Amino acid sequence: MPQLFSDKAGKMKKLSINGRFLFLALDHGLEHGPRDFNESNIDPSSIIGAASKMRITGLILQKGLAVHYKEHYAKKVPLIIKLNGKTSISNYEPFSPQITTVKEAVEIGADAVGYTIYPGSRFEAEMLEAAGAIEREARDYGLPLILWSYPRGEAVKDPLSAEMMAYAARIALEIGADMVKIQYGGKKEALRWAVSAAGKCKVLTAGGRAKSEEDFLKEAKDMMDAGANGMAVGRNIWQHEDPVGIANSLASIIFGE
Ligand code: FBP
Repeated sequence: MPQLFSDKAGKMKKLSINGRFLFLALDHGLEHGPRDFNESNIDPSSIIGAASKMRITGLILQKGLAVHYKEHYAKKVPLIIKLNGKTSISNYEPFSPQITTVKEAVEIGADAVGYTIYPGSRFEAEMLEAAGAIEREARDYGLPLILWSYPRGEAVKDPLSAEMMAYAARIALEIGADMVKIQYGGKKEALRWAVSAAGKCKVLTAGGRAKSEEDFLKEAKDMMDAGANGMAVGRNIWQHEDPVGIANSLASIIFGE
């Protein structure tokens, strides 16, 4: 039987430095496919191995990489298991089915679980229902839940508008997530409003497509100034020519040193 409310506060602490969060996302092999990688990072062990040298507070993986590459991160970096995912091959209304259960994530050694919802999609109802069940299960196991809340689908005209960013963040609070990952449209005021809307749910921002180091670090500073609690970044770290260096520059901004 799961231990009710085992140690969620302890896990949140383990996943943070100075109350802030910096996660390295590497679920792109499923979401985007090999187009995101090059010769030096297509082998997952290169990025996962480098992660242990980065000043990050969590590594986000689908279960396949988590199981097959365990020796590269276990006991070095906290693990966040992404429970659902989709490919970018089909172009139907966005829907991200569950692939891994919370129980499996616990068995693999996860310190938190992540789940994507696409508010506004024709399949929103299914994803909200699944998110509710996952929140219950994660709470039973004392695992923090991070929701990727990305408004998408035919009904969503401008996913990065202030209204949509705040709505995306608020949905996660209403569902009971501990953290929400949203996309940033470049307007600090909009992010400030989204952070207010999220209340006690911590707000993390995504990195997006790789940009120049200067632009990326400036954007990170803006996001932290706007009240974000941290970031969950993929491509802007591991597509960089010096992933450890850029991750540690980002860490200085996020952890406020
Ligand atoms: P990035 O920092 O590379 O944008 O990664 C964040 C992330 O949410 C990943 O966890 C996920 O694989 C990807 O973006 C989803 O990308 P998309 O916006 O194309 O759905």
